[in-house]
Amino acid sequence: MFRAAERPPVLHKAGADRRVAPHLSDYAATRASFSWDAIRRELLGPSAGTVNIAHLAVDRHAAGAQGERTAFRFLPASGAARDVSYAELARLTNRFANVLAALGVMKGERVFVLCGRIPELYTAVLGGLKRGAVVSPLFSAFGPGPIAMRIGIGAGKVLVTTEALYRRKVEKVRAEMPTLEHVILVSDDGTPTAVSGTHDFGALMAAASDRFNCEPTRGEDMALLHFTSGTTGRPKGAVHVHGAVVTHYATGRYALDLHAGDVFWCTADPGWITGTSYGIVAPLLHGVTSVVDVGDFDAERWYSILEQQQVTVWYTAPTAIRMLMKAGPELARKRAYPALRFVSSVGEPLNPEAVWWGKDVLGLPIHDNWWQTETGGIMVSNYAALDIKPGSMGLPLPGVDAAIVERGPAGAPLRFVTEPGVEGELVLKAGWPSMFRGYLNEEERYRKCFREGWYLTGDLAKRDADGYYWFVGRADDVIKSAGHLIGPFEVESVLMEHPAVAEAGVIGKPDPVVGEMVKAFVSLKKGFEPSEPLRMELLGHARKRLGAAVAPKEIEFKPALPKTRSGKVMRRLLKARELGLPEGDLSTLEPES
Ligand code: WT7
Repeated sequence: MFRAAERPPVLHKAGADRRVAPHLSDYAATRASFSWDAIRRELLGPSAGTVNIAHLAVDRHAAGAQGERTAFRFLPASGAARDVSYAELARLTNRFANVLAALGVMKGERVFVLCGRIPELYTAVLGGLKRGAVVSPLFSAFGPGPIAMRIGIGAGKVLVTTEALYRRKVEKVRAEMPTLEHVILVSDDGTPTAVSGTHDFGALMAAASDRFNCEPTRGEDMALLHFTSGTTGRPKGAVHVHGAVVTHYATGRYALDLHAGDVFWCTADPGWITGTSYGIVAPLLHGVTSVVDVGDFDAERWYSILEQQQVTVWYTAPTAIRMLMKAGPELARKRAYPALRFVSSVGEPLNPEAVWWGKDVLGLPIHDNWWQTETGGIMVSNYAALDIKPGSMGLPLPGVDAAIVERGPAGAPLRFVTEPGVEGELVLKAGWPSMFRGYLNEEERYRKCFREGWYLTGDLAKRDADGYYWFVGRADDVIKSAGHLIGPFEVESVLMEHPAVAEAGVIGKPDPVVGEMVKAFVSLKKGFEPSEPLRMELLGHARKRLGAAVAPKEIEFKPALPKTRSGKVMRRLLKARELGLPEGDLSTLEPES
């Protein structure tokens, strides 16, 4: 075991790290010869402009010898795994496409899916895409507030959920979602559901044909809607198109190094884009088997899955790795992972210690990569064949141009930072296939993300002399907790709904395991006094409305919150004070009474 101080800055790969020849062995050569058009032709063939993600992911493999291969291996909480072959997945998704057609769902209409990682989620997402509907998977740990808000913004026509989730989270707010015409319930115990105003998933599926002519969508047709949070305002619906599939195919090959015969495990939930792009689309495009675990993180269970399912390629997140590190190396060493070949992680900064921990404990280093809901797929990555500089996000994907810029004042041209090691904003040359095509109904917000043909990521980073990118921080106030992006505004709004709350300011407080923890500062209206019962009541209120994934874990009362002269709560100042850091530029601060 290396001690931090003894660890070299570069982790060199050994022959044993490359048991299967990686797809990308010579970065410069691959980059030089890379063309999106060539990848597009390879994936689509002479398709005359038709591109449908579900067709390419499922139907393309279902007919031939590949049809009997397992597409998904679903691991329930207990009991036997359920294997679904490519051929069966094709039939299931055909049935669901027919279900939507029978309900009158037309091309471009919105289908929301709110389920844990059960087979029906995957059937609904892929079946919806076959129908030509726009699919929006929502995280099942969201509370009624975020659910109703997103279905409202997305004008959801259909919601697929489970009976338990419906009763707990949807029933009470259904009246807030006037566009919602159909709610389809998956039974929790196998007996048909009978809730008034809803359909039973099993009954609809049984009545539908398992043959369906996939909607001949075009590359620019909208396919998926993934919500993401900003500093202010409502969550943004990032629009993704069917043509994005070309990026998922390319990154499955170059960044995740998927090979025929792989058993792939992406631990992300499809309620977040990683769980869709890499938990559903990319592995199916490559015809590999994906393991899907219905359970949440559990160190012992995860090691047993890696061992027993003979996972070869594993895509997970820094918070999970830190939790495994916390559980201690003995637990990991109780088992062996001879099948495991490539481990990769995304979503938040990956500590250099975590990269080395992988090498020490799993025998393989962790490969960090970087992307966003807006980019649709992996943009900067560490690669199987290349040495790793622990702490770095790696090199841009072949086919992606990245740079570091200083924005300067509005209207001024971007200044490209050429000196290595100088901090600036990470930008990407617009035009890769999975680039988001809009924020739903928010043209202005979308336009502001681009300048001079570059997409501005809102992340601060540095590039070193070898071209490796290093994450520095976010340029805005959004919070990353356990890999999930949380908008402070959404949390503040819910706190302000409470009759006692005058003002709320929400920050991410650094946390050694989950990265950042949601903390709220609250000032009270006249007539209310800070007290422990009131604090508990506010925590409970937020949790009920927002769900466990988004709600603050800590609430602190303040007589008043620092504000700008224009009345905006200064979260940065709250955070600086919380952390005992310099308070920075206070020129816009409203004098505090
Ligand atoms: C934000 C995007 C990753 C796709 C799904 C989440 C942060 C992402 C890294 C990384 C440091 C990272 C950035 C980015 N982030 N990957 N490897 N190192 N930070 O997408 O929820 O839209 O979040 O996650 O701040 O902007 P998302």
